[in-house]
Amino acid sequence: MPGAAVIGLQWGDEAKGKIVDILTDRNDIVVRYQGGANAGHTVVFGGENYKLSLIPSGIFRSNVQSVIAGGVVIDPKSLLDEIDSLTARGVNIEKNLIISDRAHLIFPWHKIEDKIMDTANGHEAIGTTMRGIGPCYQDKVSRSLAIRVGDMFKSEFHSRIEYITGIKNRRFEVLSRYLNRGINLSDLDIELDAKRIVDEYSKLAERMRPYICDTTNYLLDAVDADKRILFEGAQGSLLDIDHGTFPFVTSSNSSGGGISSGSGVPPKFISKILGVVKAYSTRVGGGPFPTEQDNEAGELLRNKGNEYGTVTKRPRRCGWFDAAAVRYAARLGGVDSISLMLLDVLSGFDILQICTAYNINGRIFNHFPSHTEDLRLAIPIYETLPGWDEDISEIKNYDQLPSNAKYYIKRISELVGKKVEIVSVGADREKTIFLT
Ligand code: IMP
Repeated sequence: MPGAAVIGLQWGDEAKGKIVDILTDRNDIVVRYQGGANAGHTVVFGGENYKLSLIPSGIFRSNVQSVIAGGVVIDPKSLLDEIDSLTARGVNIEKNLIISDRAHLIFPWHKIEDKIMDTANGHEAIGTTMRGIGPCYQDKVSRSLAIRVGDMFKSEFHSRIEYITGIKNRRFEVLSRYLNRGINLSDLDIELDAKRIVDEYSKLAERMRPYICDTTNYLLDAVDADKRILFEGAQGSLLDIDHGTFPFVTSSNSSGGGISSGSGVPPKFISKILGVVKAYSTRVGGGPFPTEQDNEAGELLRNKGNEYGTVTKRPRRCGWFDAAAVRYAARLGGVDSISLMLLDVLSGFDILQICTAYNINGRIFNHFPSHTEDLRLAIPIYETLPGWDEDISEIKNYDQLPSNAKYYIKRISELVGKKVEIVSVGADREKTIFLT
């Protein structure tokens, strides 16, 4: 069974949605396996621009089944809003989407916890998306206060919410006494009303019911039936909870390590992994970013690349391509090849820089450091390349690219140690160059 995966190799926002959408018609099933509504995937075709957050980017092909697997954390309201807005635009969701009964649910308390903990945690804020992602995964791992999608239809659902809100309310009381530094807790509606939550979630549960099933068994049956499955990663490898720039990471395994745990499909069935990178680097939220350009070059990248968050609209921090970081992420993810995105944004720069290694306290590091404090001290060692002026956004094949653009692609491939298979020169499906 040829299972394939698309994962981001930077700090998210690598334009994975476009690649998943393109590859979808070669597959029977597309699976989201980690993360939640913190993700923002954009798909552009036929002059229309679609923003997805929880729903897999495969949803636009009517012959493809989209799956939200058990490793995803689901905010039901956000999911149903997304379903409604796609349905209103003529996308057929009902037949093409299934949602795992094992996925964990995000509740109002998770968003409050996200806000309290990230704003008052005594060190630099992670700058989360405030979607309750970390607190929901925290409850999942510690188990006793977690509620999964399947629980919404069981007899203890109401009493569980009452029990949990009781505990969370007591915790908020304590937290507001000890952690009220720099945030105004009175701005947050921290007195949880169990009955209101039960009423709201019971209605949401009924609307979600037609989509819910045991997706693990569905996918295992699909493996047995030799179906082609595409796994769609959210965020990027450098935000991976175990292997990213901890603690400035998201709370799931976004490196590709999460594919099997999140979906239930055994690793040996995933035969191809495509790593997606931007032709430069971006990061949203806090944490070290060695190649960041907090200057005119960074501003130019932000404006030309429209680097503002799909979910939170926050301006993204921008910088040069970091080949040392991507090399690490590509090895970590075991990627076979690379899809290089947004190359058109680099037109017009006189020179381009690629970070090849780091100087940390006078020592040269070819590896990505494991501790953020070391990464913070890292001075990038750059290779300087000539830029190009031509607009490349209409170019359809590799040979027509300016020679400096070809050289830039070649150096990225050499420095990362993986072949570049796809180059994207615009948001639309059509603006894609396949290298042979
Ligand atoms: P959380 O996932 O909301 O907990 O946020 C943790 C960190 O991951 C923050 O720095 C976010 O900005 C970042 N993050 C989460 N999701 C995305 C994404 O889809 N793209 C880029 N950054 C993200």
